[in-house]
Amino acid sequence: MNAILGASGAAALEPEGMRPGRAAAANAAHGAALAPRVKLAVRNLTMRYANGHTALQDMNLSVGAGDMVVVLGSNGSGKSTFMKCVVGLNRPTAGTVEVAGRDLTSLSGKAMREARLPLALISQHANLVRRRSVLANVCCGALGRHRTLATTLGRVPPEEVEPALGYLAEVGLADLAGQRAGTLSGGQAQRVAVARALAQAPQVLLADEPVASLDPEAADEVMRLLRRLASEDGLAVVCVLHQPELAARYADRIVGLRRGRTVFDRPASAVSQREIADLYMADA
Ligand SMILES: Nc1ncnc2c1ncn2[C@@H]1O[C@H](COP(=O)(O)OP(=O)(O)OP(=O)(O)O)[C@@H](O)[C@H]1O
Ligand SMILES: [Mg+2]
Repeated sequence: MNAILGASGAAALEPEGMRPGRAAAANAAHGAALAPRVKLAVRNLTMRYANGHTALQDMNLSVGAGDMVVVLGSNGSGKSTFMKCVVGLNRPTAGTVEVAGRDLTSLSGKAMREARLPLALISQHANLVRRRSVLANVCCGALGRHRTLATTLGRVPPEEVEPALGYLAEVGLADLAGQRAGTLSGGQAQRVAVARALAQAPQVLLADEPVASLDPEAADEVMRLLRRLASEDGLAVVCVLHQPELAARYADRIVGLRRGRTVFDRPASAVSQREIADLYMADA
């Protein structure tokens, strides 16, 4: 599956049982010589919005290569605020966000854009360019590494086509490369969004409710895919869900958020039904 990424070197630095392809490609893409296991380290993260509402309070989270962490919490508990702080869409009020060893919160401008390259975000809606082909959409994921006038105007760098076909094969959609993105089913579109994220050669994959609009079968397929990208390719995956049963089935760890605070961060097998139910209980 990863033949097109085939590289060497970093294998000895990766968790056991993990294939070298993805991590090596990501390291090459981002110029990292050594790959420490922790890919995302969030410390004392606090976000108070301009209206005075504190949506996130003192959050800590560490996610290693190969880990799949699911974040659960009721509507408004701060899950998307957390994701936005990590990718830099929100400027946190306090705390740090370290991605592949670099603190993003101390950076701005070009340095920030570069430090963010190892991060990829998938949202509830695939947000594909409907009139362009599936393949062109996947290639778009690589554009962050090619800042030329031609790519700014939407031209796909030719050297990204073959890898993009490989990513499509990884999500099981190689046959649809030439199809217009606007014709895909919701589940197919979300898998293309995953392939587009892979084209960024990320080390950390964030997914904010990636299965919210999918039927149970398609949701399972996307979750299996994310799980495999963590276990086999060594990505650090953080996924926000509203389905505790999917969290229990696919996550290594579950983080429970309530009113902007972490109430537990534990192996999925050690989280009780009671704790999950408490997350969704109306505030007294
Ligand atoms: N730009 C903003 N300005 C002020 N308050 C905001 C802003 N964005 C979010 N909030 C508030 O912060 C809190 C957390 O919102 P957030 O979107 O992070 O919740 P969530 O856990 O993702 O919820 P959901 O499950 O509904 O997606 C909410 O009370 C929300 O109203
Ligand atoms: Mg949200």
